[in-house]
Amino acid sequence: MNISATIKKAVLPAAGLGTRFLPATKASPKEMLPIVDKPLIQYAVEEAVKCGIEEFIIITGKHKRAIEDHFDNAYELEEKLKTSGKKKLLEEVNKLNKINFAYIRQRAALGLGHAILCAKPFVGDEPFVVILSDDLIEPSYNLLGEMIKVYYEKKSPIVALDEVPISDVQRYGIIDGILEGEVYKIKDLVEKPEPDKSPSNLAILGRYILTPDIFPALETQKPGAGGEIQLTDALSRMAKKKTIYGYPIKGKRFDAGDKLGYLKATVDFALSNSELSQKFKEYLINKVKALL
Ligand code: G1P
Repeated sequence: MNISATIKKAVLPAAGLGTRFLPATKASPKEMLPIVDKPLIQYAVEEAVKCGIEEFIIITGKHKRAIEDHFDNAYELEEKLKTSGKKKLLEEVNKLNKINFAYIRQRAALGLGHAILCAKPFVGDEPFVVILSDDLIEPSYNLLGEMIKVYYEKKSPIVALDEVPISDVQRYGIIDGILEGEVYKIKDLVEKPEPDKSPSNLAILGRYILTPDIFPALETQKPGAGGEIQLTDALSRMAKKKTIYGYPIKGKRFDAGDKLGYLKATVDFALSNSELSQKFKEYLINKVKALL
């Protein structure tokens, strides 16, 4: 296992059913839901590109073809933008043209752990990043870059952590760990515990740096919460044999896989969008005044 290799690959699971956003996600992927003018999955890709990631392995399922089309060239559109002199839009559309994308179909919705396992032939023997695009990180904060830096020091798997209200622990993987300097040394991880049985309120958020020994762990992983093969359970077994770290987030995260989180992200991103911020702020102020 080449744990010292440079991290160049990212796995983006995108095969979930998106039930929380039905009917919007009936025939189109939740990863394509836009925040202002960009789909969630593009924020994830751009975040990783900023950190030197060159190859993306996207795990797709039914109704996910829009993702492939989104990251493909769009000749007709590009020609139109060129001839009408819309240079800025053309640049925006072409931004990710040089990035490599591979798509693997997860044939059955057997869980996040199973989705990651599908990437095994493409990842090979190197450490890699996992990004869950419905966990949206404010673009000015380089969480992944910080995690990669810690990885190069420790050469061990790292999960990003966020503190959540204890009433919300059932929605996440939760860790039990001890803070050592700026990272948690993880003793155990539990997927979606009941609040009264939860070891803490430190939730795993959708950024992981994994080593290839996760694959044999996933291959032998039995179904857990929700009857699915859980990445958290495989990491929990791994934590008994080697050190796994938790990296507490220092910036803002939005749970865009949840309607309220999605709306909050939209408001924040619109307020920091140079074209929209002034008018949107005025609108919001008037709206709040009317509500008081
Ligand atoms: C997944 C993971 C969970 C993690 C969460 C972060 O859950 O299984 O451990 O805390 O992502 O968003 P899901 O949101 O797919 O239910």
